[in-house]
Amino acid sequence: MQAPVAVQAPAAAPGVEDLAQATLPGATFHRWLADCRQRGPLTLTRYAGQTAYLISGHSALAAAFRDNPRFPPAEAYRRTIEPVQGLTFQTMEDDEHRLYRRLATPAFRSTAVARMEVEGLAALARELLAQLPPGGGDFAHHFSHRYPFMVISRMLGIPLAREEAFRGWASGFLAFTSDPQHAAQCARDITDYLLPLLAERRSQPQEDVISALLHTDVDGQYLTDEEVLSHIRLLFTAGASTTVDALGNLLYLLLSQRERWQQLREQPALRAGAIEEVLRLESPVAILPRVSAEQAVSFAGVEIPAGSFCLFAIAGANRDPAVFASPDHYDPTRDTSRTLLSFGPGPRLCPGMHLARRQLRVVLDTLLQELPQLSLANEEAARPCGTVLRGPPVLPLRY
Ligand code: HEM
Repeated sequence: MQAPVAVQAPAAAPGVEDLAQATLPGATFHRWLADCRQRGPLTLTRYAGQTAYLISGHSALAAAFRDNPRFPPAEAYRRTIEPVQGLTFQTMEDDEHRLYRRLATPAFRSTAVARMEVEGLAALARELLAQLPPGGGDFAHHFSHRYPFMVISRMLGIPLAREEAFRGWASGFLAFTSDPQHAAQCARDITDYLLPLLAERRSQPQEDVISALLHTDVDGQYLTDEEVLSHIRLLFTAGASTTVDALGNLLYLLLSQRERWQQLREQPALRAGAIEEVLRLESPVAILPRVSAEQAVSFAGVEIPAGSFCLFAIAGANRDPAVFASPDHYDPTRDTSRTLLSFGPGPRLCPGMHLARRQLRVVLDTLLQELPQLSLANEEAARPCGTVLRGPPVLPLRY
């Protein structure tokens, strides 16, 4: 018989009033996470007005990501996103999650995506660069906030003439926590716009993601129109702001220490490693909120009450010195292929990670080629902030 594991009270995280509201710019956030990690793999903090259990040690977090019984992933999404996004595999568990994920994710790897990856991504980056105001400006406004939306629109097969309107609806829809009424209106606009397009693609499939979503089956089961619409909304909620932040973090970390930028100009072979290192040092999904199981569970020697907020601190685990030597140091030659947690390991592993990495690489190559003199005009204003999604609020650049 196994000896019972001693259950202890978790240490309190250092003072942050409520992580859902905190911004913790730049290094403040990483110092705070390091402080939490030193107090134990689980620390007590506050999130959205409630007590929350923050998991910031690498091995504890990697285990928690794979532990669906204790940390069922769907519940947190049901509370936040499902009412506006609709039913998707994100709010399903186990077999149902697997089935719907198989139905909906081949769309990310369809011929349209493959074609987009090789031909379209660089052309789109150049198209946006050509519209930059001369001399300098907020690159977040002119580029990084637009590019990932346009990539998704083009993959979906939205006609170019309506791309700008569609982008407005999609980004309005994403503001569902700060402006729910406007978000609901934008969701209706997206639906009104897409329904006739769905009917067209159902009868005449094209090589685009909408057609792939409509025509993929698993054992004879297809997605309904409403399910296709929800999964299109999911592409924006999961794939747009994350990539916007990833692009911003990439530029901030490379330009705030310009020798890094210069090194990548001279040594293109380091670019792939630089992208991985930026994803580790400033993970766009910095803390992922989960809700623990309906019964109290014990984890890492701590008793967690039923239905508690558990905060998966990806940004903390990605700098755990037990796994990463000199964890705060940028090293584009570091091998993180088995240890990076930015895309979440386990059954929820980000199905868009190849597309995200591809976008980062294409934008990096294009900028190093077209705007090699790029520099930060205001380092402090561009510091990444946010605790759940994290990126620079603005990117004042000179070019
Ligand atoms: C750098 C950019 C990105 C980051 C950091 C990121 C991160 C993540 C993480 C951490 C998860 C796991 C969530 C969980 O465990 O609950 C996830 C899931 C997901 N991601 Fe991404 N993602 C990125 C880009 C994308 C893109 C471009 C797409 C699609 C176009 C996408 C689609 C999804 C979807 C659909 C899920 C849900 C998977 C599931 O529930 O089975 N992501 N992502």
